[in-house]
Amino acid sequence: MTFNRSIKIAPSILSADFANFGAECRAIEAEGADWVHVDVMDGHFVPNITFGPSTCAAIRPHIRGVMDVHLMISPVDSYIEAFATAGADIISAHLEAGPHIHRTLQAIRGAGARAGLALNPGTPVEAVKYLLDMTDLICVMTVNPGFGGQKFIHSQVAKVKELRAMIGDRPIHIEIDGGVTTETAPLVAAVGADVLVAGSAVFKGGSVENPGAYGNNIRAIRAAAEAAQ
Ligand code: DX5
Ligand code: ZN
Repeated sequence: MTFNRSIKIAPSILSADFANFGAECRAIEAEGADWVHVDVMDGHFVPNITFGPSTCAAIRPHIRGVMDVHLMISPVDSYIEAFATAGADIISAHLEAGPHIHRTLQAIRGAGARAGLALNPGTPVEAVKYLLDMTDLICVMTVNPGFGGQKFIHSQVAKVKELRAMIGDRPIHIEIDGGVTTETAPLVAAVGADVLVAGSAVFKGGSVENPGAYGNNIRAIRAAAEAAQ
């Protein structure tokens, strides 16, 4: 079976109404989201705090598809079981979050989730060379993690191209996270990215009461990316 490298849009609920996560998750899925991206921040690894496993468990019943949990926390290992139990389909840890990323990826798969590896903008692609067989997804941060609504870092497009060559035929998704819009999505899709996280660009102009804007934004990003693939 060929690996599914078609474009997938993963709205980040960091830009959603925190008081209404359940309805927001249902709305973006109904409007065409492929995955739901969940940003977990601890105020230590990144200068912001969001939520933990209990919030993930609370929103799980409102997500029919893939719950894609992005851990911006350090340390990581002691929390993996809790996020897996909360229902995360994919758990991504940052390579920079600790000295034992190989063990962390093993632990994520051991907990029954798919393993994701996230790279900060400053981290070279060579760092993943001996981790490729441990991971199901590599998340290239195209902003410095911690906040939504930041500008896309264009230097990362070359990193995505290198990464796509390194991956070859392995069944590994390339996820892009940060500053994804109808302008920047084609740049990364053209060099091999298949999962596009978008927060502010999906949630802008919409709400649970007016979800149509979510759908328009998702379709526009998908169309721009697919045209470049
Ligand atoms: C930032 C998060 C991103 C963020 C993306 O640290 O990992 O997922 O929510 O938001 P936008 O698309 O607004 O840059
Ligand atoms: Zn994220």
